[in-house]
Amino acid sequence: MKNITAVGVGYVGLITGVCFADLGNKVVCVDINEERIENLKQGLMPIYEPGLEELVTRNMQAGRLSFTTSYAEALADAEFVFIAVGTPEGVDGEADLQYVRMAARSIAEAMEHPLIIVNKSTVPVGTGDWVADIIREYRNNSVDFDVVSNPEFLREGAAISDFMYPDRVVLGSLNRDAAEKVAQLYLPLRATIMITDLRTAEMIKYASNAFLATRISFINEISNICEALGADVKEVATGMGYDQRIGHAFLDAGVGYGGSCFPKDVKALAYMAEIRGRHPQLLRAVMEINHYQRRAVVRKLEDALGGLRDKRIGLLGLAFKPNTDDMRESPSIHVARMLQSAGAHVRAYDPVAMKAAARMAPDVELAQDPYSLAEGCDALIVVTEWNEFKNLDLARIRDLMARPVLIDGRNIYDPATMKELGFYYRGVGRGYEDQGTQ
Ligand code: UGA
Repeated sequence: MKNITAVGVGYVGLITGVCFADLGNKVVCVDINEERIENLKQGLMPIYEPGLEELVTRNMQAGRLSFTTSYAEALADAEFVFIAVGTPEGVDGEADLQYVRMAARSIAEAMEHPLIIVNKSTVPVGTGDWVADIIREYRNNSVDFDVVSNPEFLREGAAISDFMYPDRVVLGSLNRDAAEKVAQLYLPLRATIMITDLRTAEMIKYASNAFLATRISFINEISNICEALGADVKEVATGMGYDQRIGHAFLDAGVGYGGSCFPKDVKALAYMAEIRGRHPQLLRAVMEINHYQRRAVVRKLEDALGGLRDKRIGLLGLAFKPNTDDMRESPSIHVARMLQSAGAHVRAYDPVAMKAAARMAPDVELAQDPYSLAEGCDALIVVTEWNEFKNLDLARIRDLMARPVLIDGRNIYDPATMKELGFYYRGVGRGYEDQGTQ
C-alpha cells in the first residue's frame, strides 16, 4: 500500500486515482474545482465512463479513495503525486500549460517531505524539466523531489480496462531510482514497463498518438481512392490487416478522428517541429486529410439533395466516438457547422452526449430518439457508430423521413441492404455502391 495523490479530477486524474485505489493504495484526489469535488464526494461523476461510478463508490467505501480541494491535506501523507490536469490547445497549436504550471506551483508550496512528482498530462517534450524548475522556484524549503514522466495511453470509453491491462507503461526520468519506485506501483498489472529519459518518454506519447492518427488518415485517403476506383475500403482494410506487420486496429475509414487528444497532439507535435525549423510534412497531410473527411460527407449530401438550403438534416451521434459523452473536436460539430452555413436545419440525437450538446452545440435541435430524429428529415448522417444505431428498424426510419437519404460517415450499414430498403445510401470509401435510388 502506497500513499498517492492525483492532481486534477478530469479524465486522466480520476481514472488514475480510482484505479490505483482499486489496486490497494490510499489515494487522495485534489482539484481546485469545488463543485466537482463536492459532487464526487456525493458519488456524482464529472464524466461519463463505463464502470467508473461503481469503482469510485467501492473504493470510497473501502476508505482508499478521498477527494479534497486542499493541497496541504492531499499531500500530507503522499509519497507520489500524479499531475493529471488538462493541457488544452493554445495559440498556433502550442499546448497551453497554465494548469500544469498552477498544479506544479501548488505542489511546491504545500510539500513538506520528499515527493516523487509524476507527470501524466500530455505536455510538450521537455516539460518534465520545466516542472522541476517550477517546483524549485516555489518550494518554501529544500525538500527533495524527483520528476518522472508517465504518459497515459487510456482511451475514453475503455479507460478503466486500458489502465488495468496496459500494452506498456512508459516512465521517463533523469533519476532511474525514482522511475523504478513508480514502476513498483504498476507491478500488480504485470505489464511491460519501459524506463527512458524524460524527453524520450514525453515523445513516445506524441509519436504514438500521431502514428494512430496517421493510420486513420491513411485509410481515409485510401477510402477516397477506393471511391474513385470502385473498391470497398472496408474489405481493403481487412485484407491489409491480416498482414501481421500491419494489423487491423485503427483502419476504420470515416468522418475522421476527433476528441481531446489526436487533433490537439498532432497539431502540437507539428508545432514543436516547426518552431525548431523542421518540416512535419506527413503530420500536415494527416491533419488536412482529417479535415477533408468532414467536408466529403457534406459534399455527398449536397450531391444527394441537390443543395442544402432549408433542408432538414438529422445527425445520428454527436460524441466523437461511442461510449463517451465527450464532444470535444467531434466531427459532429464540424459537420453541423458546415451544414448550417449552407442553410440547412440541423437536428441530432446521441444516446449520452445530449447534455454536452446543449452546451457545445446550442443551435442544434435535439431529438429524444433516432425515430423522432428521422421524422420529416431530408437526410440522416451517421456521425458516431453507437451500437444502438446498428440495429435500428431502418424500414420505420425510411417511412418517417421526408426523403430516404442516408450518408453513413462510419460505414455501419451494408450498402446492398440499404439499397434494397430503398435508401439513397452513401458510405465512406465503398466504391462499388450502386448509384442511389432517389
Ligand atoms: C486516444 C488514444 O487512442 C489513447 O491511447 C490516448 O491515451 C488518448 O488518445 C490520449 O492521448 O489521451 P481517444 O482520444 O480516447 O484515445 O480515442 P480513440 O479510440 O483513439 O479514437 C480517436 C478518434 O479516432 C475517434 O474520433 C475515433 O472515431 C477515430 N477513429 C479511431 C477512426 O476514425 N478510425 C479508427 O480506425 C479508429
